[in-house]
Amino acid sequence: MAKVVRFHETGGPEVLRLENVEVGDPGPGEVRLRHVAVGLNFADTYFRSGLYPVPLPSGIGNEAAGVVEAVGAGVSDLVVGDRVSYTGFTNTLGAYSTQRLIAAAPLIKLPQAVSCETAAAMTMRGLTAAYLCCKIYPFQRGDTVLLHAAAGGVGLIVSQWAKLLGLQVIGTVSSEAKAEVARIHGCDHTINYSHEDVAQRVREITNGVGVSVVFDSVGKDTFMSSLDSLKRRGLLVCVGTSSGKIPPFDPAILARKGSAYITRPGLADYIADPTEKAELVEALFGHVAAGRIRIEVNQRYALEDVVQAHRDLEGRRTTGSSIFAI
Ligand SMILES: NC(=O)c1ccc[n+]([C@@H]2O[C@H](COP(=O)([O-])OP(=O)(O)OC[C@H]3O[C@@H](n4cnc5c(N)ncnc54)[C@H](OP(=O)(O)O)[C@@H]3O)[C@@H](O)[C@H]2O)c1
Repeated sequence: MAKVVRFHETGGPEVLRLENVEVGDPGPGEVRLRHVAVGLNFADTYFRSGLYPVPLPSGIGNEAAGVVEAVGAGVSDLVVGDRVSYTGFTNTLGAYSTQRLIAAAPLIKLPQAVSCETAAAMTMRGLTAAYLCCKIYPFQRGDTVLLHAAAGGVGLIVSQWAKLLGLQVIGTVSSEAKAEVARIHGCDHTINYSHEDVAQRVREITNGVGVSVVFDSVGKDTFMSSLDSLKRRGLLVCVGTSSGKIPPFDPAILARKGSAYITRPGLADYIADPTEKAELVEALFGHVAAGRIRIEVNQRYALEDVVQAHRDLEGRRTTGSSIFAI
């Protein structure tokens, strides 16, 4: 029997329940995975709360790493004992579990140098950092970026990657302790957005010019200050909504903010093409295996502690990546 976290109704962390289920044997094109570590992502809270609607009851979680236990018919590139990781969207829901069946095609074989724990902490967050840094804007060395929630899971990877590209990084955080973490991971400047005026500080830091790109995973609370922080014809990347959904806006505002560009990307669209996905995987795993990017697993939970884990993440009590150690 596998232990699986599911929810039968949407709501707060308390709707998450640990249940026992029979996993069975893999069908054609599938493998049975024994999870070693499971990633805990802010996006999981969107599924649980109902922001991302799914048929109920539902499993939860879109990122994990583990060992192949059994292989279904037609699976030729994986064998029992292989260590793999994965991420996805509704196609991979159910990662919060000790064991599962899953399609073999999207699985990533782990290099020797990358542990299952590290892989579970970075497959979604790191591939997100990879496309943000490599696919979304033609960065030149010396460009300045504003990175919200810089001490978070995605944030710590983006800041390290941005430094590898030679960028200047201004990170926002909600506490001095988080500012310290952000600076250690590459932020040249930090702004505590719980009491500082972000756009004003960005103008001071950039001598009035503004930044080329804002990576905004916070959403509702930061949208306007993000637009106000851009240089002329800069790009606002609305990558998440940790503080809530961005209210509807009139596109005419973009003209008033220096002919700003805006995009709302999703990882799924940057890894849908297998060649493009392989390129991002190689870049990410290469940087991590070589020690150029550190993956910080700062919170470890048992699957039984799932309610507390979600409370900590939504309560802004975490830094870096969180995982369930199975
Ligand atoms: N579009 C994509 O492809 C994609 C892929 C992966 C993740 N994401 C998004 O990237 C973001 C970061 O994900 P993550 O898993 O690494 O989470 P995280 O950044 O580790 O955690 C969320 C952080 O957001 C900040 N925050 C600001 N306002 C908040 C509020 N009202 N409530 C809670 N947190 C708030 C907090 O940092 P401070 O305390 O410093 O403010 C908090 O630690 C999420 O929005 C996620 O949905 C997007």
